[in-house]
Amino acid sequence: MSKLDLKTLRPGTRMIRAAAYTDIVVQSHIPPIYQTVNFEYADAEQGLDIFQGKKSGYIYTRDGNPTTDLFVNMVALLEEGEAGIATASGMAAISNAILPFVNPGDEIVSSSAIYGGTRNWFTEHLQRFNITVRFVDITDLDAVRVAITDKTKILYTEVVGNPNLVVADIAALGKIARSAQKLFIVDNTFTPPPVMYPLRYGADIVVHSATKYIGGHGDIIGGVIVTSLEKMQLIGKTLSKFGGVMSPFNAWLAIRGLKTMNLRLERHCDNAMRLAEYLSKHPKVAQVFYPGLPQHPFHKVAAAQLHGYGGMMAFEVKGGLDAGKTVMNNVRVCSFVVSLGEIDTLIMHPASTSHVSLTPQEREAIGVTDGMIRLSVGIENIEDLIGDLEQALAKV
Ligand SMILES: Cc1ncc(COP(=O)(O)O)c(C=O)c1O
Repeated sequence: MSKLDLKTLRPGTRMIRAAAYTDIVVQSHIPPIYQTVNFEYADAEQGLDIFQGKKSGYIYTRDGNPTTDLFVNMVALLEEGEAGIATASGMAAISNAILPFVNPGDEIVSSSAIYGGTRNWFTEHLQRFNITVRFVDITDLDAVRVAITDKTKILYTEVVGNPNLVVADIAALGKIARSAQKLFIVDNTFTPPPVMYPLRYGADIVVHSATKYIGGHGDIIGGVIVTSLEKMQLIGKTLSKFGGVMSPFNAWLAIRGLKTMNLRLERHCDNAMRLAEYLSKHPKVAQVFYPGLPQHPFHKVAAAQLHGYGGMMAFEVKGGLDAGKTVMNNVRVCSFVVSLGEIDTLIMHPASTSHVSLTPQEREAIGVTDGMIRLSVGIENIEDLIGDLEQALAKV
């Protein structure tokens, strides 16, 4: 397209065209944010070539954007997958990883120890489309084999699941999925690389809530899917029309998060281990749930497949609901919020928050005891974290 002399235009048009004509190409050390909806074509031929796929290029940010592409390429590189796609949230990653591969009448076999939002989407939303999810104890491999039928399309699990930090044997599950020819989807939100590489162990698709460790600072909601190029093309078509794509600004923040994630995870893992060891010897603590502890029921599988044991843990304070509330009301370094994977230590008391609508018996049945406290251990100095819990537990 030929350019006009801007001075011939009236002020309103002049400002709009001046911004459009600016070709800012500088040697930026940090990749810029392509905060744009559209990508412009030099002429009709270039537009035609890009639309027909003869030349590579961007068209519209819902279908692709250089900043989000940089982010997904980084995650694909990290997860050792062929391709990735960025989504507006972790839930958008999960739904878009599943939807292209199921039809009414199909079934999914899922771990029962999964994030409540995912469980809700499975039971209340997928069910409406006649897609049935069968929940199993993912650590019972025979139960998994029995639950898989001809109708099953997907085996779904998280690596480390709430509330008791059960650890799925991804290698064994990968073999089961492969021999039954089912798609194996793993939510790796709690244990991003280098802690866990699900694709190495037979996962077909890995999903993340980038809201957590990838972003790392509690300032973005986002998600990402990593898989083969072939599956990604299918997922990309679904995502483009369901529309839950990541914003370029969030992708830019997620890129920044990825640069320090390895370092942060080392500290998350070290701090969680130290805190678990401290709490397991505390007289007011009945039980500690952390896969790094030798007494944890799934320590062996965690030791074999994880590199570090992650930053998530839970413990049960003696004295039930009141004792749990006392700890919550007295911590001063830990923050009382529901999310996880951020640089600061986040504390949650399920019995008085997320699971308050259930009876104590119902909570007990899913492993949430009244004195249970969940910690997403941050990267602070460990002495301050131990000191904070020490003084809070002293008030019980
Ligand atoms: C394991 C896991 N997966 C997925 C999600 C959903 O992520 P988002 O909140 O980014 O949609 C969460 C949220 O807590 C989660 O814990």
